[in-house]
Amino acid sequence: MNVLGLETSCDETAAAVVVDGRRALSDVVSTQIDLHRRFGGVVPEVASRNHLVQVLPVVHLALERAGMQLRDIDLISVTTGPGLIGALMVGVQVAKALSMATGIPFVGANHLEGHLLAIRLGEAPPEPPFLGLVVSGGHTTLYDVEDYGRYRRVGTTRDDAAGEAYDKVARLLGLPYPGGQPIDTLAQSGDPTAIRFPRALPGKDVHDFSFSGLKTSVSVHLQRHGVPEGQALADLCASFQEAVADSLTRKTVSAARALGRRDVVLCGGVAANSRIRSLLQERGTSAGLNVHLPAKRLCTDNGAMIAVAGYEAHRRGLVGEFNQAADPAWRL
Ligand code: KG4
Ligand code: ZN
Repeated sequence: MNVLGLETSCDETAAAVVVDGRRALSDVVSTQIDLHRRFGGVVPEVASRNHLVQVLPVVHLALERAGMQLRDIDLISVTTGPGLIGALMVGVQVAKALSMATGIPFVGANHLEGHLLAIRLGEAPPEPPFLGLVVSGGHTTLYDVEDYGRYRRVGTTRDDAAGEAYDKVARLLGLPYPGGQPIDTLAQSGDPTAIRFPRALPGKDVHDFSFSGLKTSVSVHLQRHGVPEGQALADLCASFQEAVADSLTRKTVSAARALGRRDVVLCGGVAANSRIRSLLQERGTSAGLNVHLPAKRLCTDNGAMIAVAGYEAHRRGLVGEFNQAADPAWRL
């Protein structure tokens, strides 16, 4: 089954062709990061307008790179939520229009389910049940993936998402938006033990996270000592990153043990982080878990993961309806 996946929930216009929910023939991502950078974050109206400009060329390119035409597609899968309403509507309207014009069925996919299932595009993916940590700019949530279509939220952030903490701290440090990659790069030459930032680890048997205290603590440190440069900047980035990685991996490993899950999947934009990847691998392995890490380019938003989520939704019998609207707050 050839599925065209379409993603426009935030600041990436993306389309991909995926065969049988496993093999990506193409995966085109047009990012708007440069457009939003000068505002220090995603501006919803700017995002929607740019999706309108990019969406059809991106779909054409995804088909072309897959060596296909629209008539070779069996299903169109589109992100219907969660995300920015104006941004989502662009993808949803395009999917409906293509479906109406060609008779190809479409299905609405959940963006977070896409992140969780992106691991299926790699080698030897785990089958459910597994524990999945979605860690992105908008979400930091642990899901017990009991089966395809059965996702139980077992813990989430009580305040900021981890990616949001990265982006806010980067802003305080005068680093470009989005802050994850620049902090990750600087941290590689820094000392993670230079500054002991707090780790919020709510309750022993609770699988929740919290990052706003850490962000405040970085802010207080900067007020006292000023914004560092050179090696001191690298040390601060490494120390901040260590605090995020420590609490994320500690909570994930303890949740997997409490739930009796052997396979753990890390996903979402922040899952591209080098330290979070290595620490989860290290701690997971010593706790007897199998840690699965999607390729970094599959961690950030893309169309292939939406094709996989739509393929699975279709297998469960879900079909898109023309009166179906985008749902910006769709909870998985
Ligand atoms: O999943 P994603 O592309 O979009 C959302 O659904 O939010 O995630 C974007 C987030 C941003 O906050 C960005 O700073 C973060 O992922 N990110 C990283 C890294 N690469 C991207 N955070 C930490 N380390 C990275 N290497
Ligand atoms: Zn995302």
